[in-house]
Amino acid sequence: MIKKYSIKELLDRGKFFINKKVLVEGWIRSFRYSIFITLNDGSTIKNLQIILSKKLEKKITIGTSIKVIGIIKKSIGKKQYIELQSLNITIYGYSDPYFLQKSILQPKKHSLEKLRSQSHLRFRTSIFSCVMRIRHHIAFCIHQYFHENGFFYLHTPIITTSNCEGSGEMFQITTMDLKKNSIDYTKDFFKRKTYLSVSGQLEAETAALGLGKVYTFGPVFRAENSNTSRHLSEFWMIEPEIAFYHLEENINLAEDFLKYIIKYILDKSMEDLSFLNENFKKYKCSKKETNSLSLFERLELILKFPFKRISYTEVIKILDKEEKKQNIKFFHSIIWGMNLQSEHEQYLVNKYFKIPVIVFDYPSCIKAFYMRINNDGKTVKAMDILLPEIGEVIGGSQREERYEILLQRIKDTNTDKNKLWWYLDTRRFGSVPHSGFGLGFDRLVQFVTGMNNIRDVIPYPRTPNNAEF
Ligand code: 4AD
Ligand code: MG
Repeated sequence: MIKKYSIKELLDRGKFFINKKVLVEGWIRSFRYSIFITLNDGSTIKNLQIILSKKLEKKITIGTSIKVIGIIKKSIGKKQYIELQSLNITIYGYSDPYFLQKSILQPKKHSLEKLRSQSHLRFRTSIFSCVMRIRHHIAFCIHQYFHENGFFYLHTPIITTSNCEGSGEMFQITTMDLKKNSIDYTKDFFKRKTYLSVSGQLEAETAALGLGKVYTFGPVFRAENSNTSRHLSEFWMIEPEIAFYHLEENINLAEDFLKYIIKYILDKSMEDLSFLNENFKKYKCSKKETNSLSLFERLELILKFPFKRISYTEVIKILDKEEKKQNIKFFHSIIWGMNLQSEHEQYLVNKYFKIPVIVFDYPSCIKAFYMRINNDGKTVKAMDILLPEIGEVIGGSQREERYEILLQRIKDTNTDKNKLWWYLDTRRFGSVPHSGFGLGFDRLVQFVTGMNNIRDVIPYPRTPNNAEF
């Protein structure tokens, strides 16, 4: 039996394979002079050059899938170190070249959009396969980080009765016949109204208050009608939760965690990043501002300096001052108590501090019920991490561990306390200070890969009006 290798294995250890007989399989990326094939199998951005011993009788097209048995030789060409001299070639399936030919190499902005209508074929393109490989490596190193730091991976339920974040719509799930006029949910599958969860935090808190350090990594669902380049209706979130942790420790953890991921990817995904960097330069940097950063510079910026830490109240003062100095005119006016809009976040990160920013101590009126109230009675121990271009990537807080105060917050925010009896219970059985945060996985992948639209970093995006595949 001739041994099968991935193209990555062959190219990574080229010298070792010279004069060896190997088997490779993949899809044709180009076919020139009737004897030169470049083959890709998804294992790497790089292609393997194949030299046919004689011209093929049938015309083969880009995208055709083949098996080749041949001998690895040192390449005469300068582009590659090794090539495969084919002894035998088998064609698995022909392909309509039209679609793939246009988009396989470096799709432009508008063709990325078009590619979304062919999500099932996107995996064949250079750009999307780069993004998917990097997505994998980020997920892997997230598990590694937590494992190395004594966290336990917790699987929280996807089906829930409560809305952890309190705001925004949830997707309801039911097995009832919705054509009926009146629906009695006590007769539904779970004998109550249920939804797809927006966050695993509340359950993660209960686990942290026994296991110490836990994290979740799973899909969450939000039915808000946000048609932006940073919102998905189904996205992946990582939520660490730690007992005996105060807000500052939580912030330290979040910064260390983000830096670890960026370092890991710069170390492990150089080839894919280089491809994306070229793409980024072509379609982003040159157009907007001449001094805008390359993808590498943007990633290195994360590692170079400590993130700027600043309270919400200070942020409002800065934004107000900047507007008065006429350095900027915001669409939404600056009032203490308002939600920071994307334009404010962008100004703060891209123009004012020019490094990632951590904003803490937000007004309680714009944050969820579970955040710990500060002594001023007006602000909560919340923190958001803002990155260049994409804005908020992490949202977290120290949790309210005092039973009476938590109960009052639940009432004040019109949250149904009956659904949360089990959550409240944790404050009656050895309550402790604890903290956690949620990292938007897809937004992070967007930041690392420099993709403009979050829909281009997830295999099958779910957004308003869109769930085809
Ligand atoms: O700020 P959020 O809503 O926080 C929570 O859900 C908390 N329960 C987290 C916690 O403390 N355990 O969401 C966390 C992050 C955001 O910072 C953002 O990066 C991402 O999730 N996110 C989205 N990503 C894509 N599409 C959406 N619609 C998103 N909404 C939030
Ligand atoms: Mg948030």
